[in-house]
Amino acid sequence: MAEWVRIRDIGNYEGQTVTLKGWLYLRTDKGRLKFLRVRDGSGVIQAVVFKKNVPPEAWEAADKLTQESSLIVTGTVRADERAPGGYELDVSDLEVVHYAEPDYPIQPKEHGVGFLMQNRHLWIRSPRQATILRIRATVIRAIRDWLDSHDFVNVDTPILTPAAVEGTTTLFETDYFGKPAYLSQSGQLYNEANIFALGKVYCFGPTFRAEKSKTRRHLTEFWMVEPEMAFATLEDVMDVGEQMVSYVVQTVLEKHRRELEEVLERDVSVLEKITPPFPRISYDEAVEILHANGFEDFPWGEDFGAPHETTISSQFEKPVFVYHYPTKAKAFYMEEVPGRPEVCRSVDLLAPEGYGEIIGGGQRIASVELLEQRLREHNLPREAYEWYIDLRRYGSVPHAGFGLGVERTLAWICKLPHVRETIAFPRMLDHIYP
Ligand code: 4AD
Ligand code: MG
Repeated sequence: MAEWVRIRDIGNYEGQTVTLKGWLYLRTDKGRLKFLRVRDGSGVIQAVVFKKNVPPEAWEAADKLTQESSLIVTGTVRADERAPGGYELDVSDLEVVHYAEPDYPIQPKEHGVGFLMQNRHLWIRSPRQATILRIRATVIRAIRDWLDSHDFVNVDTPILTPAAVEGTTTLFETDYFGKPAYLSQSGQLYNEANIFALGKVYCFGPTFRAEKSKTRRHLTEFWMVEPEMAFATLEDVMDVGEQMVSYVVQTVLEKHRRELEEVLERDVSVLEKITPPFPRISYDEAVEILHANGFEDFPWGEDFGAPHETTISSQFEKPVFVYHYPTKAKAFYMEEVPGRPEVCRSVDLLAPEGYGEIIGGGQRIASVELLEQRLREHNLPREAYEWYIDLRRYGSVPHAGFGLGVERTLAWICKLPHVRETIAFPRMLDHIYP
């Protein structure tokens, strides 16, 4: 058998005979020719079977091939500019590993979303879904690479927790040996403890929110990376956020330009512009934008909804930071703006093209008194936060951080209609199978 190579690397083997192992995605017959669209997890290639070039058994096998059958093909790599991926394989031999049952549910045609979601375990095999998952892996790796090379220490934070971070309405409660515990909404509070040990840290893991809203941006289980820094302010959050996001986008472009263009039909020129600095506007300025663009009645003090975020971000080609939100609209831990307690040192990063908030963060309260006051105002049980108050008792420093949602970031980069396509097995309000 010739050398087993992956489709992604096929360009290095032009003119050579190689072996591919994968699955049949699509078969087209034309007399003595069969065109097999073969995928192997790294890409898709057209394998051309010409009756006179293969042993009779191989021709017979090819004739019985059903969609999703697993197979091993050997052939010569030929460059073809018109072919997706730029190459084709002229088959010299073919072996079937398993003939898939003939009723594979997902055909290369349009299916309804409900049907596809019920068959997500099979849907992920489609070239589009597999491409998105590959880009997701690159996004996650780029985030880690950037943070690791900028002195952030990765510290894992717990998933089972005794208290809320982002409000009590979206908590998933579970039974912890007879006491209530909650699935983590964010590792932030633990990150805040970790900076006193390590200076700059990040956690990266699944987070959970019992989101009752059915939107194209909400999952109940999503992955968030959360950097946190000691001796840092709101401005540092924006500096780090714009550098990290730009690095992620440029890395995806470098590694997946062809897939973005050919498989996802993404306009990559839009992504090329994503470099620092990003525009920074205050909440007050954002409200003025709304008042001037169809939301004359938007009341100062309210949080933005999806249509508002879309209107604000559509004024810019790059993601835009909106800072100093009303204190009432944000979580309990936000530092206040000196002399203006009605607004806080918070920031959201709104992605272009209507994708909304991809980063939420800010500067944290540094004083015991203000923190205690906020816990009271938010009706949070003090006992559960005693350790968190301790952080303000022993060497308190200005500190800040943020959370970036992987799924929303990926949805924007790939320009997907819905976050359900950004994770292999999405969890949503009415969806937990498969
Ligand atoms: O703005 P959020 O709620 O911020 C926090 O959780 C902070 N404690 C983070 C921090 O400062 N360390 O969430 C941060 C990001 C959002 O901007 C969004 O990208 C994502 O997490 N996110 C969601 N993604 C998908 N589905 C949901 N239900 C999400 N909720 C938040
Ligand atoms: Mg937020």
